[in-house]
Amino acid sequence: MSLTRPAAVVVLAAGEGTRMKSRTPKVLHGIGGRTLLGHALTAGRGVDPERLVVVVRHERDTVAAHAADLDPDVMIADQDAVPGTGRAVQCALGALDGAAQAAAVVSGEGGPGRAAGVLAGSVVVMAADTPLLDAETLIQLLEAHSADGNAVTVLTTTVDDPTGYGRILREGGSVVGVVEERDATDEQRAIREINTSTYVFDAAVLRDALGSVGQDNDQGEVYLTDVVAVAHRSGLAVRAISVEDSWLVEGVNDRVQLATLGGELNRRTVEAWMRAGVTVVDPATTWIDVDVELARDVTILPGTQLHGTTRVGEDSVVGPDTTLRDVTAGRGVTISRTQGSDAVLADGSSVGPFAFLRPGTRLGAAGKIGTFVETKSAEIGPGAKVPHLTYVGDAEIGEGTNIGASSVFVNYDGVHKHRTTVGAHARTGSDNMFVAPVTVGDGAYTGAGTTVREDVPPGALSVSGAGQRVIRDWVLRRRPGTASARAAEEALAADDAGLSDQARAERSRAARGTSERGGQREPGTTDGGNTDR
Ligand code: UD1
Ligand code: CA
Repeated sequence: MSLTRPAAVVVLAAGEGTRMKSRTPKVLHGIGGRTLLGHALTAGRGVDPERLVVVVRHERDTVAAHAADLDPDVMIADQDAVPGTGRAVQCALGALDGAAQAAAVVSGEGGPGRAAGVLAGSVVVMAADTPLLDAETLIQLLEAHSADGNAVTVLTTTVDDPTGYGRILREGGSVVGVVEERDATDEQRAIREINTSTYVFDAAVLRDALGSVGQDNDQGEVYLTDVVAVAHRSGLAVRAISVEDSWLVEGVNDRVQLATLGGELNRRTVEAWMRAGVTVVDPATTWIDVDVELARDVTILPGTQLHGTTRVGEDSVVGPDTTLRDVTAGRGVTISRTQGSDAVLADGSSVGPFAFLRPGTRLGAAGKIGTFVETKSAEIGPGAKVPHLTYVGDAEIGEGTNIGASSVFVNYDGVHKHRTTVGAHARTGSDNMFVAPVTVGDGAYTGAGTTVREDVPPGALSVSGAGQRVIRDWVLRRRPGTASARAAEEALAADDAGLSDQARAERSRAARGTSERGGQREPGTTDGGNTDR
């Protein structure tokens, strides 16, 4: 066990976060693809504490469920009706002491770091609303705490505008207390060294000091910050360590701060990827979540957002204007002007421009999902291509097959979804409707405009629909005086110049009626209308 290993990390997440003006609890708002609570738990877990506790109250069940979801080993402590950060820590200590007692009963003694069934050792306390705070900073704080033999070590920083924060009070250089903005004198408000709400306490000191903290302040709350003054007055070693990089300890209280910290986190993430060998053409319009992974020599073009657990392999080019969530792309993949989620794109494949990849899309090596193509639950084999204007839903398309432009995999009968299978090396015509469930065999062809309702065996050609009818001069008769009719007349007159006498006679027979304008019926029609079709 490392010397600095804390007995517990306590994450404070019971507050309502009223300044967010949200139905969602503040700590469940997110930046960089992770909730504020998620960032706090990641940092807290990063110092390898014996126990990691989250204190909840506001929207208790939602917050507790989210915490357990992120980290199944997390302990949940409920804060009671007494408000304040100090009370929150007291409630956490109660839960931790209970757990220590249970462990002592089981083992018949106080385990390492525990004495007589109460928590002993170092306790890190941090707020759940400080998303850029990382494990390295916590480790520095723990190291200073144990190296100096402190009872209390406070993490502070110095900022240009300390408005809203608790100020660090010093006498002759030593920390003697923390005063909240609303309880501070004008002189104290001018102090720019602030409390970051991140501390290491000796558990016994914390327990004792909290016992003597009242609610005598502007908010009528039990302030954790008062522990600092109590410990100092008892003659215990209270010290502060200050972080240079104030971003790391900045808190989110409203949505302006949420966006500001989100932007800063993103700048750091994007910069780290550039330093790791990724080309980012425009960092200002590139957003990368913290859990995304990119390989060397990936190129990100402007306007690209990579979310969730998206992975991009070497030499791939993503963007411009592309949003991917939980997409895995192999090496040498091109993804242009695309929106995608839960898709897997194998090496050398290409997507877009203007594609919509919905969940369950799997594109094989060197395959293509082209322009204005939407896919969902679609397995498209290696080298297979769906180049233009097509919807592929609930389908398998075999290796090397080409799907003609403007086709629809008709997967929905109004009640149920059905699947379509197209075999390997098939060539389907443009404007095909694959009415699922249906199968097109290996090496089969279909003609343009085919509505595939029945299975097509391997190697067969399938065409559908009645033969094409041509009704000569329909436009001249039915749309006289329009630009179309005039254009047709000119073209026909030009043609006529080169026709034989017989052909000319046929033409004029067929064209009879062109001069009979105004509602006269043609032979064989009953209503002057529909039978032309
Ligand atoms: C707190 C500090 C302040 C510090 C600032 C840094 C106190 C009294 N003040 O002020 O010195 O400069 O953080 O960001 O500690 N919480 C609970 N239970 C409660 C109240 C709050 O769990 O009853 C949690 C909140 O969910 C939040 C954290 O404690 O995660 C901080 O609470 P918040 O109300 O934001 O405190 P600040 O006013 O910012
Ligand atoms: Ca705060």
